[in-house]
Amino acid sequence: MFRLLSKQSQAAVVAASAASGFTISSLMTSKEESAVASCENPTVVDQLKEIADRVNSIEKTLGTVQDSKNSIKKAEAYVAPSSNSKAKSGIDVVLGGQWGDEGKGKLVDILSQEYDVCARVAGGSNAGHTIVVDGKKYKFHLLPSGVLNPDATCVIGNGVVIHLPSFLNELDNLANMGVDYKGRVLMSDRAHMVFDFHQEVDGMAESKLGRNKIGTTKKGIGPAYASKISRNGIRIGDLQNFEYFEERFRSLAEATMMAYPGLEIDIEEQLAFYKSIAERVGDMTVDTIQYTNEAYHNGQKILVEGANATMLDIDFGTYPYVTSSNPSIGSVLTGLGVSPNKVSGIYGTVKAYCTRVGEGPFPTEQIPDGPDSIGHHLGTVGAEFGTTTGRQRRCGWLDIPQMQYSVLINGFTAVNLTKLDVLTGLDKIKIGVAYKYNGKYLKSMPACLKSYSAAEVEYEIMEGWTEDISKCKKFEDLPPAAQKYVLRVQELLGVPVRWIGVGAGRDEQIDRGEGWDLK
Ligand code: GDP
Ligand code: IMO
Ligand code: MG
Repeated sequence: MFRLLSKQSQAAVVAASAASGFTISSLMTSKEESAVASCENPTVVDQLKEIADRVNSIEKTLGTVQDSKNSIKKAEAYVAPSSNSKAKSGIDVVLGGQWGDEGKGKLVDILSQEYDVCARVAGGSNAGHTIVVDGKKYKFHLLPSGVLNPDATCVIGNGVVIHLPSFLNELDNLANMGVDYKGRVLMSDRAHMVFDFHQEVDGMAESKLGRNKIGTTKKGIGPAYASKISRNGIRIGDLQNFEYFEERFRSLAEATMMAYPGLEIDIEEQLAFYKSIAERVGDMTVDTIQYTNEAYHNGQKILVEGANATMLDIDFGTYPYVTSSNPSIGSVLTGLGVSPNKVSGIYGTVKAYCTRVGEGPFPTEQIPDGPDSIGHHLGTVGAEFGTTTGRQRRCGWLDIPQMQYSVLINGFTAVNLTKLDVLTGLDKIKIGVAYKYNGKYLKSMPACLKSYSAAEVEYEIMEGWTEDISKCKKFEDLPPAAQKYVLRVQELLGVPVRWIGVGAGRDEQIDRGEGWDLK
């Protein structure tokens, strides 16, 4: 039987058996051995067939061994080089301090020019980051905004859930806009996949909730994380072993159809699609844990772009009106596979006012009732429409108790105060400074939504300004009332406000630098 194999296969079987400690004869029963020795026995043909099947399976395994050697080669090609960056090495993080859309993407785009690696660690295509460079608008959902730095490598960490069709589309759109991403976008083999049916289930679950809907982005985020936690999810790396992928996909799709009567999944069509993209995906799939840690040890500068925001955190946010991941600081560790001692700068992004998309409590909300209302001003001047769904964002005053809670959880080392320009033209500007419930001041954030929704906000009133601030390059260029507003926010948060946004463009940003006294 052994001699029936090609020379190459014989060598491979010997090598495999030596490596595994098996001998060829140890794979056969003594009956099979004698059958091989004398081919006269009428059952011999069947037995030979069985042996041939076993050997084929060894060859297949060897093929896999060879494949994984190739993929190791591929991964080796991705060994993180040493840093050329001027910035200090380490991991810095940009997080959303409120309910999302604070302008994280803009800061990441600006900062990433100094970083070697730019990473996403949580969420999925529910995020929407708009970047404006030289009047050109870029919209990212799954890609870190740092992709616009041609020298940066982008990493999608294991904590992210990826809808591959949208992701590949995003890459194609980027290429159409003249951005060369090839070879510098890497996906974690451990990141979970979002399937089309997860998105359908998201929509079905929302319809079922009716008036009590969450107001999700319908990008399948909750259902995909549910599959992950239920341990029947499928990971990006699984696609490189298509038999395994197919087996898991069939069982996940069937289980989902059983759970959602009326849901129809064309399993064969989906499998054909995933087979067709497996190679392209494989070229970008790596062990990002190893890659990122190696980059860190090689002195590379790593920037994490937070998606979503602290008040949407499944643990810390206004549950159940939250997303299904941990967009606060913890996800940097669990979504990238790095240790806490590697993290240095933690930059909280905060709008100079506040917005929220979707349902859920929003204590400082200002309903846009009429063209002269605050809600109308913030929504129209701030162009508050979602990047992902185009939905109108709810707007309100800056909420300090909410932000103090965010500071507590994330330990911000600096604040990026965005969209200060949107407050220009308001006669008076309010800041929510305390919550009261049943006439008593609240010391901490109420966990129960009933109490939170009933909390009253105490406001401080500040003078507004009318001067255009979009050309201000230094803090001192701002009108005195705008300076006062920034300093008061800083005082209330107890965190230095390092960056101040005065417009959507890359250059419409004040950087007060590091190392100055908070007072
Ligand atoms: P992200 O999800 O936190 O990245 O924020 P989004 O991109 O969803 O939403 C922020 C919006 O505000 C985008 O359209 C930005 O272009 C815009 N933006 C960011 N910073 C500023 C700023 O300082 N002033 C103004 N006027 N717009 C800004
Ligand atoms: P970026 O990164 C604003 C909100 C949705 C909804 C809730 C749950 O752009 O700041 P999901 O689809 O995640 O299950 O929806 O969370 N949400 C966001 N709102 N910005 C985001 O991301 C958001 N990501 C999720 O509107 O209320
Ligand atoms: Mg956004």
